[in-house]
Amino acid sequence: MQVLHLELTNFRSYEAAEITFAPGVNVLVGPNGVGKTNIAEAVGYVSTLNSHRVAADLPLIRQGNDQAIVRSTFSRGQREIQLEIAINQGRANRLQVSGSPVRATDFISQLQTVVFAPEDLSLVKGDPSDRRKFLDEVLVARAPRYHSVKADYDRVVKQRTTLLRSIAGTRGASSRAGAESTLSVWDDQLAAHGASLLFGRLSLLNEISGLVSQAYEHVAPGKSAGIAYLPRSFSDIPSEDSLPRNRQALEELLHKEIALRRSEEFARGVTVVGPHRDDVLLTIGELPAKAYASHGECWSMALALRLAAFELMRTLDDSVGDPVLILDDVFAELDSTRRKALAQVAMTAEQTIITAAVAEDVPAELAAQQFVVTPGQVARGN
Ligand SMILES: Nc1ncnc2c1ncn2[C@@H]1O[C@H](COP(=O)(O)OP(=O)(O)OP(=O)(O)O)[C@@H](O)[C@H]1O
Ligand SMILES: [Mg+2]
Repeated sequence: MQVLHLELTNFRSYEAAEITFAPGVNVLVGPNGVGKTNIAEAVGYVSTLNSHRVAADLPLIRQGNDQAIVRSTFSRGQREIQLEIAINQGRANRLQVSGSPVRATDFISQLQTVVFAPEDLSLVKGDPSDRRKFLDEVLVARAPRYHSVKADYDRVVKQRTTLLRSIAGTRGASSRAGAESTLSVWDDQLAAHGASLLFGRLSLLNEISGLVSQAYEHVAPGKSAGIAYLPRSFSDIPSEDSLPRNRQALEELLHKEIALRRSEEFARGVTVVGPHRDDVLLTIGELPAKAYASHGECWSMALALRLAAFELMRTLDDSVGDPVLILDDVFAELDSTRRKALAQVAMTAEQTIITAAVAEDVPAELAAQQFVVTPGQVARGN
């Protein structure tokens, strides 16, 4: 697929900007702080409703305004589709696909993108939540219904935790018994939605693990890399190998664990069982990357994860085509082997959007449409 056109109103540093992208490689060039990443972020946002830089929407709205609008036309196969988002301060955002209002689940992944950015180093060195976010984003891109599975699960964890906290602070036996019977309803929901999410993540891991190894071999020949799911919330299941690959069986397992950890949950007032506690183990050679990888190896690993996601999505459905590859400020950080490996993928992608402070950072073999970015404006450069 290809982004044909992007129009921003009061998005980040742009009061009003329009860009017509070319097929193939597009490079946005300009000095630090002019607004290159803001463009890449806008394309990523209409794809996933997530920014690769911030968790909240507010910074996306141009300072002093209360609404940002991002419009994009993209092509998928023979079809042209318009996406529009109004990001509203203090109110729900409004989403439209080709003029019709839609819910988030029907908006996400209309346009598919894979973003690789310096922030991705946290996939290797950061908290488990960064790695869970990676998995869940790819999961949603691959099967958008997981957007609501994840939202339902997050809601259950939040409400169940609130209840546990109130039980932890309750003294009277009768009010405690009342709260505990309400808890059993939340237990059922935690197990049901948790099993769906866990099942999705395990299926994804199964599909992506070979691709991660291949991609790592491609970007950093000589050492092998691996990825495995770390189910943290089961007392006697240390690795994913011992987990059933069946949603019903996972739900039963979660139920058992919830019963087993009941007193711990009461004492701490926290939901300790469920996939919100899990992690992903990344290895380079035999060693866990988080504790052992060098700076360069972290870059290779992060790149391999994104390239694996790209590879997975491009092979999903031939009629959809490749996701748009977005490379935000990454070439300057890579050595020549990794630059070449990434350039090779960028060249074969249907469309790539690259940001760089100077044009020389981008490998010369990438014959690209250049855009010169100056504060508040983007102009065609060649
Ligand atoms: N909500 C906002 N309102 C106004 N300006 C904003 C907003 N969010 C970000 N900016 C401005 O946008 C600029 C940063 O833009 P961006 O991150 O796209 O720069 P860049 O060209 O990618 O720079 P670099 O080369 O350093 O990565 C900053 O000057 C920042 O102050
Ligand atoms: Mg930038």
